[in-house]
Amino acid sequence: MFKQTMDKLQFSNTNSLVVSAEEINALLPEAQNALKTVDEASGAGNDFLGWVNLPSEITDEHIEDLRATAASLQEKCEVVVCIGIGGSYLGAKAVIEALGDSFAAYRHEPKSTKVVFAGQNIGEDYLYELLDYLGDKKFGIVVISKSGTTTEPAIAFRLLKNELEKRVGKAGAAERIVAITDASRGALRQMATEEGYKTFVIPDNVGGRFSVLTPVGLLPIAVAGYDIKALVDGARAMQAATTATDYASNPSLCYAATRNALYRAGRKIEILVNYNPKLHFFGEWWKQLYGESEGKDGKGIFPAAVDNSTDLHSMGQWIQDGERTIFETVVSVEAPDREVIIPTDDANLDGLNFLAGKSVDNVNKMAELGTRFAHIDGNVPNLLVTIPALREKYLGELIYFFEKACGISGYLLGVNPFNQPGVENYKRNMFALLEKPGYEAQTAEIKKRLG
Ligand code: PA5
Repeated sequence: MFKQTMDKLQFSNTNSLVVSAEEINALLPEAQNALKTVDEASGAGNDFLGWVNLPSEITDEHIEDLRATAASLQEKCEVVVCIGIGGSYLGAKAVIEALGDSFAAYRHEPKSTKVVFAGQNIGEDYLYELLDYLGDKKFGIVVISKSGTTTEPAIAFRLLKNELEKRVGKAGAAERIVAITDASRGALRQMATEEGYKTFVIPDNVGGRFSVLTPVGLLPIAVAGYDIKALVDGARAMQAATTATDYASNPSLCYAATRNALYRAGRKIEILVNYNPKLHFFGEWWKQLYGESEGKDGKGIFPAAVDNSTDLHSMGQWIQDGERTIFETVVSVEAPDREVIIPTDDANLDGLNFLAGKSVDNVNKMAELGTRFAHIDGNVPNLLVTIPALREKYLGELIYFFEKACGISGYLLGVNPFNQPGVENYKRNMFALLEKPGYEAQTAEIKKRLG
């Protein structure tokens, strides 16, 4: 139905099973209004729209500062532990996994400094095993928290800082720790000032889930050895494209309108589908972006993600045949980086000689196409986003494409896409149960529920 080519990323809505082109077109004035609300910063949460013009505002000096800091960490460290949770972790993880070697973790002689993550959970075994893995390796820390007070990363940082200081002393640790946090507020800012850490600022007007193109994402990605300039360039191209007010030239506008038309027609669940295992964490990043932005006031498309063909053997049945409340958005990568050709086998006991001479990706593409046809036949509306390859530039385009669509989509839905009031509820209960000073009343209240 719609198909655009925007500097290589393409978005298309290839079937009209549930909503017709006319129905989506009818939404255009509303979608254009939502776009205007984002671009003119005139809606709810407008103090968190710093991400909109961020790509074009990133200077060469800033990129150089990030690169130099990354190089200094690479020089001193075999492993850099990135500490953060939610928006302070998922963007970097998504890009690093998408660009990296799937077996990096198992290689004894890594080609470059390894980036590992902590503070994204409260797993005691995880932290024990991380400390054990660090063993006698030279390591550094990038600690990321906008608020500077989030419990999960704060615990991980206390443990790792303590370990690092034991090994290389306080001054040595300070040379191997970089803090990314608010310009002036929060415990992490205070600690960084007192200990003399190198710091980068998370702008006030950029929320966690929109922060991958700030130092939050860019520094870990640079430490892992990837080209952050190309990532930003890709985002810049998409920033320019997504100010257009017509469907034909603005893929974010088109995607936002299509998913809202589907939601209004009863499709309450969107499944982001990939056919490349390297995109697993891209799906996690996307789930946070849309989940935290839209799930509020009793509304919102539930964001789910699957990795195919793996999940065709687990979730495939439900998607094909379960309750028809879903639609899917496939992120397709046109070409893999490497070629593996299926060999001929004289005995042909597995009966696979009909595939001999074909590349593995050729088989994967047929799985993708065959599944899309099957899902369309099974009444699953199917949207398609295509990028040419897993490269920094195209990932930059993809990130900004989804961010811009998320802002437009949230306003179309009628929510403030830039707050997350619901995230506080678990923290209040956890602090009450842990008897944190200041939570005495909540502690007394919650204890009654324990019987
Ligand atoms: O998107 C968000 O705002 C959240 O996911 C935060 O990024 C997450 O809670 C971590 O917060 P902080 O960076 O303040 O530690």
